[in-house]
Amino acid sequence: MNFENILFEENNNIGYITINRPKKLNALNKATIEELNEAFESAREDHDIKVIILSGSGEKAFVAGADISEFAEFSQKEGRRLAAEGQEKLFDVVANFPKPVIAAINGFALGGGLELAMAAHFRIASNKAKMGLPEVSLGVIPGYGGTQRLPQLVGKGRAMEMIMTAGMIDAQQALDYQLVNHVTAPEDLIPLAEKIAGKIMNNSMVAISAAIRAVNANYEVGVNGFEVEIDGFGSSFGTEDFKEGTSAFLNKRKADFPGK
Ligand code: COA
Repeated sequence: MNFENILFEENNNIGYITINRPKKLNALNKATIEELNEAFESAREDHDIKVIILSGSGEKAFVAGADISEFAEFSQKEGRRLAAEGQEKLFDVVANFPKPVIAAINGFALGGGLELAMAAHFRIASNKAKMGLPEVSLGVIPGYGGTQRLPQLVGKGRAMEMIMTAGMIDAQQALDYQLVNHVTAPEDLIPLAEKIAGKIMNNSMVAISAAIRAVNANYEVGVNGFEVEIDGFGSSFGTEDFKEGTSAFLNKRKADFPGK
C-alpha cells in the first residue's frame, strides 16, 4: 500500500500507524484522514496485526490539529460535512476498532490531534507532549468528538476549562487529569507502547475485542452496557480461546490462544 501522508508497517504482530507530515506538524488534512481510514481497514483484516500503535513522525508533533488551511474558506454546510465525515471515517473507526489502539503522544496533540488520541483506547505520552483543544481560539468548536470524549476522560469541569481557555496542558498535567496513562522520556515512548502491547498480546484477542465493545457500550446513548457485557460474556463460552484459556489454567500451563 502506498501512502503519502502516513507510514504503516507491521512488526511482531504490532501495526504501526504513524502520521507523517512533520513539516506541517502532522496536521490532519483530508488526504491524511482517507489514508488513515485505509490503513485501519487494512489492519482490521490483517491477522498478523493484533495491536495498533498510533503516533506522529518527527520530534515535535503527534498531530497539531485539523489542517486549518483546508477549511478556512468553508461554508456552514461544508463545515458540518467535514466534522461528520471525519468522525465516521476515522474517529469512530478508531474508537470502535476491534483491536487495541494505543496512542503514543510524542509531541503536540492539539485539536483534531488530541481528538484522535482520545479516540484511541488509551494514551501514553512523552514528557515533551503538549495537549489541548484550541478550536475556540479559531472561532470554531471541536468537531471530531472532543466535546464528548474530553469530559468522559477528565471530567466536565476540567474539559470545560480546557475547551474555553483553548490552552495547552503538559504531559504531567495530562497524567494528573488521567488523560494519559503513563509519561516517559521521548526515547522510551514507543518501547513502552510495545511493552504494553506485548502484555496485551499474551491474552485472548477475541475476548479483548468483546471487552472493547462492552466498555464502549457505556458511552453509547440508549445502549445498556450491562446487557452488552452479558452477551459478550456468554459468547466467549463458544470460542476456542475460552477452551484454551481455561484448560491451560487448569493444567497449570501457559495459554496459547488460537485467536478464534
Ligand atoms: N493546520 C495547518 N498547518 C499547521 C497546523 C494546522 N493545524 N499546525 C501547524 N501547521 C503548520 C504551520 O502553518 C507551519 O507551516 P509553514 O512552515 O508552512 O508556515 C508548520 O506547520 C510549523 O508550524 P509553526 O506554527 O511554524 O510551529 P511553531 O513551533 O511555531 O508552533 C504550534 C507550533 C502547534 C503551537 C502551532 O503550529 C499551532 O498553533 N498550530 C495550530 C494548532 C491548532 O489550532 N490546531 C487546531 C486546529 S482545529
